[in-house]
Amino acid sequence: MAEWTLTSDSPEATRDQAQALAANLQPGDVVALVGPLGAGKTQFVKGLAAGLGVVDPQGVNSPTFTLIQEYHGRATLYHLDAYRLAGARELDALGFDELLDAGGVVVVEWADRVSAMLPPEAIWIELTPTGEQSRTLTVRAPALIATRFRD
Ligand SMILES: Nc1ncnc2c1ncn2[C@@H]1O[C@H](COP(=O)(O)OP(=O)(O)OP(=O)(O)O)[C@@H](O)[C@H]1O
Ligand SMILES: [Mg+2]
Repeated sequence: MAEWTLTSDSPEATRDQAQALAANLQPGDVVALVGPLGAGKTQFVKGLAAGLGVVDPQGVNSPTFTLIQEYHGRATLYHLDAYRLAGARELDALGFDELLDAGGVVVVEWADRVSAMLPPEAIWIELTPTGEQSRTLTVRAPALIATRFRD
């Protein structure tokens, strides 16, 4: 496992960090977001969408009525929010395994709630508020995957 940290001092900076990361995402990647309410997980997803070339990345919001939101860019972005799921069993019932094989990029908010369902190759990003607008983003990924993001 490789681990590194990024910092952000605004919602825009969080989106920019995500957009930069998205440049090195590949079909099949899973991004697991962790952090308390209002940490900036959805802001991060907006940045991922921008980086993947989704036409209206600001239109990305937490999935509510539809539990899985789908956005089309150079790869399809599947956005899930485990806060709204009963847990791993509901994610399983939604067909999460098929989604992982669908060749898109999968991003999950509150991923720690369904960690048992996530593949070992997942890229984990923990957003920690350190002030009103400041955040530390701790990224953890298997070494082989991390090399794509760190050169
Ligand atoms: N550095 C920052 N990065 C991201 N968001 C920030 C930052 N500073 C302030 N904010 C604000 O914090 C809020 C983050 O909201 P967001 O919906 O992204 O959080 P979240 O982690 O998805 O919360 P939830 O658990 O409710 O889904 C926004 O109102 C945003 O403007
Ligand atoms: Mg959110």
